[in-house]
Amino acid sequence: MRTLVTGVAGFIGFHCARALAARGDEVTGIDNLNSYYDTALKAARLDALREAAPGFRFVKADIADRVALGEALSGQAFDIVVHLAAQAGVRPSITNPHVYAESNLVGHLNVIEYFRHHDTLRHLVYASSSSVYGANRKLPFSEDDRVDDPVSLYAATKRADELMSETYVRLYGMPLTGIRFFTVYGPWGRPDMAVWRFVEAILRGEPITLNNSGRMRRDFTYIDDAIGVLAAIAAGPPRHPERTPHVYNIGNSRSEELKRLVAVIEDALGRKARIVEAPLPPGDVIETHADLARIKADYGFQPETAIDVGVPRFVKWYKDHYGIA
Ligand SMILES: NC(=O)c1ccc[n+]([C@@H]2O[C@H](COP(=O)([O-])OP(=O)(O)OC[C@H]3O[C@@H](n4cnc5c(N)ncnc54)[C@H](O)[C@@H]3O)[C@@H](O)[C@H]2O)c1
Repeated sequence: MRTLVTGVAGFIGFHCARALAARGDEVTGIDNLNSYYDTALKAARLDALREAAPGFRFVKADIADRVALGEALSGQAFDIVVHLAAQAGVRPSITNPHVYAESNLVGHLNVIEYFRHHDTLRHLVYASSSSVYGANRKLPFSEDDRVDDPVSLYAATKRADELMSETYVRLYGMPLTGIRFFTVYGPWGRPDMAVWRFVEAILRGEPITLNNSGRMRRDFTYIDDAIGVLAAIAAGPPRHPERTPHVYNIGNSRSEELKRLVAVIEDALGRKARIVEAPLPPGDVIETHADLARIKADYGFQPETAIDVGVPRFVKWYKDHYGIA
């Protein structure tokens, strides 16, 4: 299978490319290597990828630049596209909205429009987000729920990606599937996310900020669980092209209170956190919880990793990677 992964130097893109190369796909990756977080981490992921998959090919390009994207891909045929490049993160979308419009709106349109004209395409799987459920109160969140109530610009861009994609399915019969990821964490993770920030701060003896007194719940998804099913989805064409919307939740279907996450991190580190309380920031939701009925029925997805197992694995990776005893 000739596979393209966008956002390949990112957390999920790196794991996805590595898993697809391991199963025998010929993997090409695109990323603009932006400095949203430490670019050394992105470079280290690419190095690890080249080591694990010698046939891996990397192209540096910005998906928001239509001409550059066309040049980067020209003359190559792909069967599968896993489109993960985006400006991630809820809170910065409030302070820096334009980069979200460029990467997530223009970039997403550029990718699906480019592949509209691509004869060999069997499936283009793209990243949406659990944040599209916004202010919804009905839990767990199901793909059949209405999603009209975003609480951040990030969520609005991801919802817009879904709507653009649904339009392309309807107009052109394109094989597009969106994935609503629920708080993915694990080795090679993202430095702006809670698990990483808490581990880093506790190791440095710095306080951690717990919003809403830690009375927030998240469906924490371990990276290997997410990648296993993502790879299965990207192994062939969409299973139910007739069903709308063409999206799946990928979560853990266990919603954990943030206070419990902190306790699990403290156990894994053998250190106590110093906690500073803060109110719920604008853009954040109180709870996420994935209904996995659809992805279980179609792909037999059964997430296996609770935070009690996944967090210690992350801590081990973090200490090894940064040489901390
Ligand atoms: N990690 C999660 O919990 C989570 C949850 C929901 C949705 N998602 C979505 O999954 C996808 C991957 O997330 P991640 O956690 O790996 O984030 P990440 O930031 O680690 O990876 C995104 C990658 O995309 C690249 N990128 C950004 N804008 C680009 C552009 N214009 N052109 C080319 N490359 C660009 C970045 O350099 C980065 O390497 C994103 O679309 C994100 O919105 C992630």
